[in-house]
Amino acid sequence: MELKDKVAVITGGASGIGLAMARRFATGGAALVLADIEEATLATAVAELSDSGATVSGVRTDVTDPASFAALRDETLSRHGAVHVLCNNAGVAAGGPAWEVSLDVWRWVMDVNVFGVINGIHTFVPTMIDQGEGHVVNTASIAGLITAPGIGPYTASKQAVVSISETLLQDLAAAGHPVGVSVLCPAFVKTRIHEAERNAPAGLDRDFAQGAATQATWGVFGALVQAGIDAEVVADAVADAVAEGRFYVLTHPETHAWVRGRFETILGGGSPLAPVTVG
Ligand SMILES: NC(=O)c1ccc[n+]([C@@H]2O[C@H](COP(=O)([O-])OP(=O)(O)OC[C@H]3O[C@@H](n4cnc5c(N)ncnc54)[C@H](O)[C@@H]3O)[C@@H](O)[C@H]2O)c1
Repeated sequence: MELKDKVAVITGGASGIGLAMARRFATGGAALVLADIEEATLATAVAELSDSGATVSGVRTDVTDPASFAALRDETLSRHGAVHVLCNNAGVAAGGPAWEVSLDVWRWVMDVNVFGVINGIHTFVPTMIDQGEGHVVNTASIAGLITAPGIGPYTASKQAVVSISETLLQDLAAAGHPVGVSVLCPAFVKTRIHEAERNAPAGLDRDFAQGAATQATWGVFGALVQAGIDAEVVADAVADAVAEGRFYVLTHPETHAWVRGRFETILGGGSPLAPVTVG
């Protein structure tokens, strides 16, 4: 799908990868609707893009809330009359051993990262089917294709996003609907994902790092994010994937060996603690 004169809705569009996608899509000639829970950051992003000449609006949205998503769709359709690209990109991260992370934190991560994507599909895909065109980009992570210790809630949620995306593509194709799907699986990107607790709901136990081991892991996670690639590189890859109708979007070539190694370990009867090398 060409971006020119299309309408793109981007959740988590106020910062990081979402904002980079917005800038890239605007360059490609798309009109933008940015959806984010952070109102002030959203207003700043909309002002920046508008000043650069983009057609852009912002709708304060909580992706965990189907009613909030429905309001986003209604606002998009009343303003533009159509929606061509939906980027289900809003996400949060929390880590720690499964038994230490509080159940509220588990629910929060699954709610934003998994139900945020499900709500987006439920709200926007029927409109795309009615229109006879559309493309959904779900932001997973390389954590959707491999696992690593210390970030259990995050990897669980992202593996679900990859699975939901694959099945969505299969179901749309089986039904003959001309709606495309891509799943974005980056490794580390320089954003504020390691500060995701800024968007945790009021009353949530924000103490994500109860144990010393968890604190160490979380410190490493933040450092790796800060040493990651620029979000603009990811945005370019997404724009290319939408244009070419490509499904898997892997932005870090070094991760190909990690993915291959995981599946070789599974097929070789190995263990995630001691991967076997096949071939
Ligand atoms: N940064 C990385 O290294 C990396 C790697 C792989 C995948 N990702 C994924 O990229 C996506 C974007 O994250 P980012 O790295 O740009 O981080 P970020 O924190 O800069 O951006 C996330 C955005 O999501 C918004 N958000 C959080 N909860 C929300 C909610 N309930 N409703 C609506 N918006 C909400 C935030 O306000 C923020 O603007 C996430 O899904 C993340 O998991 C990031």
